Amino acid sequence: MKTLIIYDSYFGNTEKIATEIYKTFEKDTAKIINAKDFKPEFLKSIDLLIIGSPTRAFRPTEAIVNMIKGIESLENIKVTSFDTRVDIEKVNSKILTFFVKMFGYADKPILKLLVKKGGIPVHESMGFYVEDKEGPLTEGELGRARNWTKEIMKKA
Ligand SMILES: Cc1cc2nc3c(=O)[nH]c(=O)nc-3n(C[C@H](O)[C@H](O)[C@H](O)COP(=O)(O)O)c2cc1C
Repeated sequence: MKTLIIYDSYFGNTEKIATEIYKTFEKDTAKIINAKDFKPEFLKSIDLLIIGSPTRAFRPTEAIVNMIKGIESLENIKVTSFDTRVDIEKVNSKILTFFVKMFGYADKPILKLLVKKGGIPVHESMGFYVEDKEGPLTEGELGRARNWTKEIMKKA
């Protein structure tokens, strides 16, 4: 099984989660790239595609959205997605809680775009928490990323 992990990251937190996911796969079975380095030929002969983005204004970044929109087809490729986000419970803002409930996070819109391109959803998307907008990652999130990856591996 060949896996490609693509991420975008402003402050490095999503990159850290992506790297942890990458390291959970067996050596030489996975490749990791920043979305800005994506080339369509990277999709040739992969079985699994995992895409991650910071949540920005309740959505994935433009780099991630535009990259996926530019993909011709993901037929026969298993897909899932993740994001990083702040924990709304810790922010304590009624207005933000309202908007988050309305508009959500980046993980699900990414997965929806991937499925629209013909990808086969292999496992539920996931959100990982940062303590503040520039990070750091909340304690335990790297471990959660490893466990999430192991669940994907069982199904892929
Ligand atoms: C302009 C901006 C908008 C953001 N919007 C959201 C949001 O809608 N929901 C959320 O949970 N976090 C939001 N955040 C926090 C980001 O999710 C956080 O910066 C990101 O997870 C950090 O990942 P990175 O280090 O990979 O860039 C926002 C941060 C910035 C700077």
